Amino acid sequence: MSWTRRRVEPFHAVAINRLAHARARRGLDVIHMEVGQPSAGAPRAALEAAARALHEDRLGYWESGALKERISRHYHDWYGVAVDPQRIVLTPGASGALLLAFTVLLEAGDRVALGRPGYPAYRNVLRALGMEPVEIPCGPETRFQPTAAMIERLDPAPAALIVASPANPTGTMLDRVELGELVGACRERSIALVSDEIYHGITYGSRAVSALELDAAAPVVINSFSKYWCMTGWRLGWLVAPEALVEAMNSYSGNIFLTPPALSQHAALAALDADAELAGHLVTYAANRRVVMEALRGFGITELAPADGAFYAYADVGHLTADSLEFCRQLLGDTGVAFNTGLDFDPVAGGRTIRISFAVSQQETAEAMRRFGDWLQAR
Ligand SMILES: Cc1ncc(COP(=O)(O)O)c(C=O)c1O
Repeated sequence: MSWTRRRVEPFHAVAINRLAHARARRGLDVIHMEVGQPSAGAPRAALEAAARALHEDRLGYWESGALKERISRHYHDWYGVAVDPQRIVLTPGASGALLLAFTVLLEAGDRVALGRPGYPAYRNVLRALGMEPVEIPCGPETRFQPTAAMIERLDPAPAALIVASPANPTGTMLDRVELGELVGACRERSIALVSDEIYHGITYGSRAVSALELDAAAPVVINSFSKYWCMTGWRLGWLVAPEALVEAMNSYSGNIFLTPPALSQHAALAALDADAELAGHLVTYAANRRVVMEALRGFGITELAPADGAFYAYADVGHLTADSLEFCRQLLGDTGVAFNTGLDFDPVAGGRTIRISFAVSQQETAEAMRRFGDWLQAR
């Protein structure tokens, strides 16, 4: 028997997270800013709905029609667009939605364009499916986002383009004009557009624009309850499929996942009405963002991606290290502050960058920055 193995790239955030937990088990304290998750849990109303469902529902294989209808209303309320609930496919997180979108839209061997730095699972899942990620280096001149001109220059045209606005790790956003130009460039060259909108709702200036506002029919839009709704471990997300792909999406989804988690669907329906509580987290993120950015500048770390949204600071520390993974390991070992290396997001230049997730409390943020500053001075 012969075994073939596709190489899967490691997720360094997970390795640093393991080190951080090992440190905690030794009785040492840790400030977790290495993983991209809100430290707050699901909204109260979601927990109450889940508690009720535990008693009243048998929690079998199930897809909530009410949740699809409520998500459809969410598009009306947030973006003013009409989305037929039938086009909404519920998935285990945005991760499940990405897998589903790639599987239905693309074939093995297809080339898929994406910006670098970017969320590592895009390229790793594409590779696992036998597809070819085409990374487009994106720097500060384009706010770390791909532009329509970059897509027009790709020869041959890729089968698909993935964009995220706000993005991970930079938090930068595409405005209505930029996203509109990308939508146009994709339409022009028959490139499928996958818009990952998982950080919508977490912005610090103007609100994020959905690809569906610019083209209500063609883009595949992905979202999740993980970030704005603080429900990472509930593993629930969705995608909005173009009409012609709905049946295929549902067929594949049934085969790969059967159904999304039942308990989470009950909770998510209630979470969609919890904006008043969630607004409190946005105030915390905004305060933390200010503290982190000011502190970093004060430490002489001035090359910072403009975090228009999400809850990350992406910083160039190339003047301090050429090995940001080791830098993060040492910082964790010496101070208990866990940051992530940029290598997850940019395998080429990420050795000189770090990502700091500030979706923690204001006290933790202030303490982490104090320790980081002292540590840098003592180096
Ligand atoms: C840009 C982006 N997309 C997708 C995901 C996957 O999220 P989930 O599967 O928890 O919904 C993440 C998680 O960090 C992310 O940052």
